[in-house]
Amino acid sequence: MKRVITYGTYDLLHYGHIALLRRARALGDFLMVALSSDEFNAGKGKRAYFSYEQRKAMLEAVRYVDMVVPERTWGQKSQDIDEYGIDVFVIGDDWVDTFDEQLEGRCEIVYLPRTPEIDASRMKECCDTEEA
Ligand code: CTP
Repeated sequence: MKRVITYGTYDLLHYGHIALLRRARALGDFLMVALSSDEFNAGKGKRAYFSYEQRKAMLEAVRYVDMVVPERTWGQKSQDIDEYGIDVFVIGDDWVDTFDEQLEGRCEIVYLPRTPEIDASRMKECCDTEEA
């Protein structure tokens, strides 16, 4: 069984997220999502529209996702890889090279191209404009 992990906030779930999850799951047999906790996001100065529990429930409803665990720190990746027996780390290419040093030799590292023209901030801006 090849086990894949990815990290992210997955707020306002959209087709770009789904495309990432579909391609991530296709790299193995089991996909785990380490979902940024509200506290972790606050530490980054980021606030999700949906709570951790709401974002988790939506991800668990996606057929490509086998398990959701919390992401609480930047440094937990090495521990997650050992604890969950991870073979592949995957994330969008907006993070290209970022985790190479931390993860080198521990598992395969894959950066997938982002889906163009969709992101959560764009969705929020669009709603603001329509309300005005
Ligand atoms: N992602 C993607 N294509 C997009 C948007 C996001 O492939 N158009 C990927 C990201 O690269 C990441 C995952 O989806 O691997 C989750 O993204 P997330 O952490 O939620 O945040 P953002 O990258 O900021 O994307 P968004 O603002 O759309 O949530």
